[in-house]
Amino acid sequence: MSSVPGRHRIQSRSSLRRPVLLATLAALWLTPVVQADDGSEPGDIKFVRQAAGMDDVSPAVFPHWIHRMAYTCYACHDSLFKMKAGEDLVTMDQIQNGQSCGACHDGKTAFVSNLSTCNRCHR
Ligand code: HEC
Ligand code: HEC
Ligand code: HEC
Repeated sequence: MSSVPGRHRIQSRSSLRRPVLLATLAALWLTPVVQADDGSEPGDIKFVRQAAGMDDVSPAVFPHWIHRMAYTCYACHDSLFKMKAGEDLVTMDQIQNGQSCGACHDGKTAFVSNLSTCNRCHR
């Protein structure tokens, strides 16, 4: 992740938001990076397919980084997901019913699952 939105503002403008932003960035920096053992970008978790389904769709990838920019850990842990890869059985039915990833990927908070977005998660 090369660009941090607002970086210039943090450096050049002093405001009430500055300490909050710095604290957030420090927290992100200090967070241990989760490294998947398939060599993908640190912080990405590749799901292991649990449901019976089309095997030609590659397993979904969850990128921690983009989510950590917007949310605290508690937005997901442990109410939506355990802090352990492979613990949660996620299916498309859940996502389409507003559960699991679908709690946010509903077209309002984040992009919805449809034919043009499959490969944003399955790649
Ligand atoms: C938007 C949701 C979301 C947020 C926010 C989030 N996580 Fe996660 N996290 C997940 C998901 C999904 C998994 C994978 C769970 C699974 O595979 O069953 C996961 C897994 C993990 C794991 C286990 C990794 C492994 O290899 O076993 C750790 C550790 C973790 N998260 C730490 C954090 C920390 C620390 C934060 C805050 C800085 C955070 N997460 C924020 C969704 C999130
Ligand atoms: C917001 C992320 C996301 C989007 C968008 C998404 N999926 Fe998924 N999908 C998942 C996750 C997470 C799983 C559970 C892990 C796995 O099996 O890959 C899953 C599971 C699946 C499965 C396994 C069987 C099942 O029903 O659970 C299939 C097949 C699948 N997705 C196809 C698709 C297709 C086709 C699209 C586009 C129409 C799509 N997905 C869009 C995240 C997503
Ligand atoms: C707490 C809310 C929340 C949850 C839960 C959540 N997401 Fe997200 N996700 C977001 C937001 C917000 C974005 C960034 C805005 C956007 O791209 O629509 C995002 C972005 C993404 C992206 C980046 C897409 C790209 O183009 O790089 C992927 C992939 C993704 N999410 C997959 C998942 C998967 C898979 C799950 C479930 C395991 C999940 N998300 C759960 C809120 C969430």
